[in-house]
Amino acid sequence: MANILVIHGPNLNLLGKREPGIYGKVTLAAINKELQALAKKNKAGIKIFQTNTEGEIVNIIQKESESWADALLINPAAYTHTSLAIREAISAVKIPAVEVHLSNIFKREEFRHKSFISPVAAGGIFGFGKDSYLLGFLAALSLVKKR
Ligand code: DQA
Repeated sequence: MANILVIHGPNLNLLGKREPGIYGKVTLAAINKELQALAKKNKAGIKIFQTNTEGEIVNIIQKESESWADALLINPAAYTHTSLAIREAISAVKIPAVEVHLSNIFKREEFRHKSFISPVAAGGIFGFGKDSYLLGFLAALSLVKKR
């Protein structure tokens, strides 16, 4: 059984209310429900975390990759564009990471065009709203199966 760790970064707890013109009306709870159903359908394990704190993301990646997770699905949110600490946590651990974004970060402001995470991720999916997570989950599963 493949175990997939899902991490939602800062402000994603506000989905549904947060800039719906960009992120849509879907809530984080609804995304998590779909991810859980997809995990069940694929007989995979899933653990989901949301935090607004950079260091906590680092701690979760370290702990869960050591003890439980086979792959990481992460939307680092604003930390995508700033966080050396999250990038280095991903490089440090042995499990592959899939980076996802609801929006197409390359269609938006220039400061979003740079991802600190992409160079250390196995791959990324962006621009498909909640489907970015569902596609990303399948990509993470496929990476684990190929290992
Ligand atoms: C985001 C894109 C980021 O630029 C932004 O800071 C977010 C959400 C997305 O899912 O589209 O918080 O990661």
